[in-house]
Formats: sequence, C-alpha cells, structure tokens
Amino acid sequence: MELVTSTEMFKKAYDGGYAIGAFNVNNMEIVQGITEACEEEHAPVILQVSKGARNYANPIYLKKLVEAAAECCPDIPICLHLDHGPDFETCKSCVDGGFTSVMIDASSKPFEENIEITRQVVEYAHDHGVVVEAELGTLAGIEDDVNVSAEDSSYTHPEQVEEFVDRTGCDSLAIAIGTSHGAYKFKPGTKPQLRFDVLHECEKRLPGFPIVLHGSSSVPQEYVQMINEHGGAMPDAIGVPEDQLREAAKSAVCKINIDSDLRLTMTGTIRKFFDEHPEKFDPREYLKPARANIKELVRHKLVDVLGCAGKAD
Ligand code: G3H
Ligand code: 13P
Ligand code: ZN
Repeated sequence: MELVTSTEMFKKAYDGGYAIGAFNVNNMEIVQGITEACEEEHAPVILQVSKGARNYANPIYLKKLVEAAAECCPDIPICLHLDHGPDFETCKSCVDGGFTSVMIDASSKPFEENIEITRQVVEYAHDHGVVVEAELGTLAGIEDDVNVSAEDSSYTHPEQVEEFVDRTGCDSLAIAIGTSHGAYKFKPGTKPQLRFDVLHECEKRLPGFPIVLHGSSSVPQEYVQMINEHGGAMPDAIGVPEDQLREAAKSAVCKINIDSDLRLTMTGTIRKFFDEHPEKFDPREYLKPARANIKELVRHKLVDVLGCAGKAD
C-alpha cells in the first residue's frame, strides 16, 4: 500500500474512540518490530522521524525503510510523519521528500509567531497533499525543581486553541496536559496524573478535531529493571500510567507518541543479551531478540492501550 496521510486514520479514530500509535523510528530493526506487530494486529500506524533520527540515519534511508515496511505489510495503512519539525525548511524538505505528514513545533515561540510559522508550513504542505500537526503549550521536561506555577504555565491554555486552529489551518494539534518526553516523567513518590480537565476543555472547543499527545511512554518497569540488573543505571524512571492513556485514547486524542518505551525495550534486551553471552559479537544475534521484544511491546500498546488493533480497514 502507498504511504497515506493521517486524515482517514484520525477520522475513524475520533469516531471509534481509539488512538493511532505514533512510534519513532531510527533504524531497520525498530521499523520491522513496529510494523510486524501492526500487520499482525491489523492496526493502522504512524511511523515518525525526528530531526535527530534524520541526522543519525539520513532521511533517505528512513524513507526507504518505511517504504519497505509498507511493501511488506500491504494490509495496513502507514503514515510517514516528521516529528517535532523545528522550522519551515525542515518541514519543506520532508514534504518534498515524500513524507505524508509533518509536525511544525513552534510551541516554544510566542503565540503570534507560532501561528505565523505554522501557517506557512500548512500552506506549503497542503499545496502538496501533506497534513500538518502543530503544538500549543510546552511539555514539561524532566527537571527536578519545577515549581507549580512554572508547571502550570506549560499546560496548553484551552482558550487559545480555537483561534490557533482557525488561523493556522493545521490538521491536528498537540497539547500539553502533563505528559513529558523521556524516561523520567514524574517525581518518585508522587502520583502521576494527567490534566484531563485541560484535555476535555480543548476537545469541547474543537469538536471533531484530532488532538495529539506527545511524551506518552509508560516506561515499563520490566525493562527499567532489566537495564538496571544488567549494568545500566536508570533509577527512578517513571512513565505515564497506561490506564490514563487508555482513557485519553477514548477522547479526541487520535495520536499518541511513543519513543522512550522502544528505546528501553531495545536497550534492556541488548544489555541482558551481552551480560548472558559475553562471548558473542554478531549484531544479528543481539538485534534479533531486541526486535522481537519491540514487536511484543508494540502489540501490547495496540491492543491494551491505544485500542487500534483490528482497525486497519
Ligand atoms: O520527542 C522526541 C522523540 O522522542 C525523538 O527523540 O530527538 O532523540 O530522536 P530524538
Ligand atoms: P516519549 O519520550 O514519552 O516516548 O515521547 C515520545 C514523543 O513524544 C515523540 O515526539
Ligand atoms: Zn514529542
């Protein structure tokens, strides 16, 4: 199947009360693990590429890997998306390079500047049949000493979303409701809680419009433990509880971004392998179980968290 935009996927996800998984890809084994799970579970999927991934692997390789996946998985729709596009030029390069979706992330800029940059990207992307995700509000980072007011100020202000969407023409909107990037999302001893009030206020103001959640890894403790037991040091790595993501997926949230969980799975598996087989040195031998575990992790997300298994038609 040709690569598709996320338009149809989001329509069905919105109406069906589930979310599409958006998984970050950096190499062949990650692409294979994700798409094999999606093909077997008959789930639509978004494969996304960050600026860091483009620098690491070269966008041409990533595009070809995703095209190979689409050829090997003919029964599921696959969307190729730029994650956190930093500027117009990067978005343009992805549109020109055959991506079907781009994100322009000008969320750190003032409101008017965010609107202006996003609007420019939308104009160019739409002219080329490509859809655009934008962001309003900034995700919390992993800083230890975030005080309440600083934290509050990073949440999306629901009263801004209609104007932003109207004036930019973006196709989906990432909002900040307490998720954050990386493996250290919440302080140990505190109860992770997403701001569903902010989410519901945004969805009320944007009826029928797809919302996106970034920073939505759950940081499986099984893999954190595996890393720590086999030479790693990742104390206090905590993610978003899966039941809260399941809840979010039933709302206007149509796209949920997952990257750190893939990294933890791959790293834990490879660390364990080397610990148990110090004499081995063939990359195929340690990448094979890593790919298999990524596939099982993604299967679990599709079935138990996102609710998009069986939704590929
Ligand atoms: O949100 C960011 C993604 O996890 C990508 O991370 O920039 O290290 O590739 P990266
Ligand atoms: P995680 O770090 O929680 O996996 O978030 C990934 C993400 O938002 C990619 O844009
Ligand atoms: Zn993100």
